[in-house]
Amino acid sequence: MIKISILLASIILAGCTNQAITPKQVIKKPIDENMEQPKGVKNIIAFIGVIKPALESSMKEDPTGIKASKFCANSAMKMTKGFNATLPKGESIRRTALKYRNPANKPDAIDIKVMNEFVVSKNFDKPKVVMINGVERIYKALPAKQECLICHGENISPEVKKVILKSYPKDLATGFKLGDFRGVVVSEIKR
Ligand code: HEC
Repeated sequence: MIKISILLASIILAGCTNQAITPKQVIKKPIDENMEQPKGVKNIIAFIGVIKPALESSMKEDPTGIKASKFCANSAMKMTKGFNATLPKGESIRRTALKYRNPANKPDAIDIKVMNEFVVSKNFDKPKVVMINGVERIYKALPAKQECLICHGENISPEVKKVILKSYPKDLATGFKLGDFRGVVVSEIKR
């Protein structure tokens, strides 16, 4: 049933690729917990499984976060691209946030709408699905955990701040408190 609706949505939206995105074009479905996990969710889990251990081991080597900040600035995007290269054609992963650090992760209008819903509902468990212009997007919310605050929190050390501002002079991704909505991992699959 869900597959059929997605298919219908793709057909309806297929002609709209270059038009401005209006809320009407967005069809949303909550993910049914009993349903087999959609491929997009699997991609997100696999991606987090790659990037999380890399960040963790860098933080372990240097708990001040200086080394890991450099690692994130130099490697997070490369790792994302590298991961996408392993996915079948038409599938990809990206990260975005309302208050973002890397301009390459700037959200679009739909991203902003979905993320604002996460902020309002404070329910970060269930991914949100959006069908737009023939692409299925799945959004997984990332809460600000304790280990994130060293680089995204209210009291970032001057050393870490210096490293971050060097790469991202217009950084918006600071001042988060434990449990705040930090951003999302988005899976995109052409349907
Ligand atoms: C050691 C510092 C450091 C830690 C710890 C850290 N981040 Fe980041 N984060 C960065 C840097 C630097 C960037 C920008 C480079 C990039 O990843 O594209 C970034 C980018 C991001 C982005 C992409 C959107 C944007 O703002 O550009 C998200 C989402 C994010 N971080 C979430 C988290 C979460 C959630 C945690 C905790 C699990 C975390 N970060 C821990 C340094 C850090």
